[in-house]
Amino acid sequence: MKTPVIKLLSSPPGIKITAKGWVRTKRGNKNVTFVALNDGSCVHNIQVVFDMNHFSEDDLKDVTTGACICVTGSVVASQGSGQAVEIAAKEINVYGLADPDSYPLQKKGHSLEFLREIGHLRPRTNTFGCVLRIRHTLAYAIHHYFHQKGFYWLHTPIITASDCEGAGAMFQVTTLDLKNPPINDSGKIDYSQDFFGRQASLTVSGQLEGELAAMALGNIYTFGPTFRAENSNTPRHLAEFWMIEPEMAFYEIKENMDLAEDFIKYLVNYALEFCLDDLRFLNDMFDKELIERLQNVCNTSFVRLSYTEGVDILMKSGQTFEYPVSWGVDLQSEHERYLVEKHFKKPVILTDYPREIKAFYMKQNDDGRTVRAMDVLFPKIGEIIGGSQREERYNVLLERIQELNMDIDSLWWYLDTRRFGTAPHSGFGLGFERLLLFVTGMANIRDVIPFPRTPKSAEF
Ligand code: 4AD
Ligand code: MG
Repeated sequence: MKTPVIKLLSSPPGIKITAKGWVRTKRGNKNVTFVALNDGSCVHNIQVVFDMNHFSEDDLKDVTTGACICVTGSVVASQGSGQAVEIAAKEINVYGLADPDSYPLQKKGHSLEFLREIGHLRPRTNTFGCVLRIRHTLAYAIHHYFHQKGFYWLHTPIITASDCEGAGAMFQVTTLDLKNPPINDSGKIDYSQDFFGRQASLTVSGQLEGELAAMALGNIYTFGPTFRAENSNTPRHLAEFWMIEPEMAFYEIKENMDLAEDFIKYLVNYALEFCLDDLRFLNDMFDKELIERLQNVCNTSFVRLSYTEGVDILMKSGQTFEYPVSWGVDLQSEHERYLVEKHFKKPVILTDYPREIKAFYMKQNDDGRTVRAMDVLFPKIGEIIGGSQREERYNVLLERIQELNMDIDSLWWYLDTRRFGTAPHSGFGLGFERLLLFVTGMANIRDVIPFPRTPKSAEF
């Protein structure tokens, strides 16, 4: 049985242990050899000390950076500074060699761009170890948060026939022969012969199915992968990302905002409480204000204002934006970040957007030009959450679907929720990687997901 390094580091001296992991560095002299061993259980290494009176050079020749080893020995109080305990080695077994001439992580300090090219090995760096542990911990915290609030986790399908966001950027799923697809009488591809008997895609959101379940279970959330085929090559967009979408019966927009704010603060607090070692590493390496920024978000009330008020501020700001602002335009991240970072200096929830730039399902306001949308905007990120109160009135929803020329045949089941026992309800979607960008301080979304999927990139 091996003991994880995270446990060894707080073990009392004297006990006999076995440790297994990967060599980070080896140094020493003819009397003693020091090996820094990391097993991924935490950011810290444990120092393994080989007394060269008991080991030969030959015993340790394969113990090179990147090699995988098993060490048996005892925990002893460290002679050196920098660690309380170390391992006095008795036996060593090398599981896997790592040829120093070809192992790509031989040296420290590779750029994040280079590490993206060796995505199969980058989990072995301190940086990605930290990011992946934080990612896990926050995924766990999300389930914990909703479970203790009485929300049920709903598994929504990855393959779907409906386009929730109506943006049209979906990955098609088909088993038709792409070189020779069946053609119908009107000269179009005959999807009735396709696997599902209709055109199908990877989902852009689990919301519509989430709404069905909220009309039965009350409060639900989804947490799973989501796909967007838009050709967005930005540090904030992925073609495959994870989204958390709570949906609540009887919530109006105000309660929706309260939940979104409480949820994010809970998650940031959770990271500060349970990932502090990893956050300290990232703070020191990449972003000296990271921990302070996280603490600030937890201790401040988010500003709430309408899109109209937000646009007013932007127009009066005297700033030159790459994309000019006026009432009716979709806000760009430069606008969102101006409001958050320069104007208010705290997170902002913008509400009541023009209906033309938002999805069909949002509840229409009485003014006839806005909908009850809410976007949560964050420093360094821009939009981190998008949500709304939903249009629960059958006729209003139907008219909007018709006005947008959407395919009613693929949405009849969604409309049925408004025909049978409709209720006021609300929900939102939190982009998991956008949250991780904020929490880890990383600048590129490709560095907070183990295997990023972006245009022209799906190698590992
Ligand atoms: O604003 P979006 O498109 O909203 C929805 O999908 C709704 N169905 C959510 C709901 O009300 N249940 O996406 C929600 C969030 C965004 O705020 C952003 O954080 C993230 O998902 N997101 C992306 N993250 C990474 N890459 C992309 N291409 C993303 N697109 C959206
Ligand atoms: Mg959005």
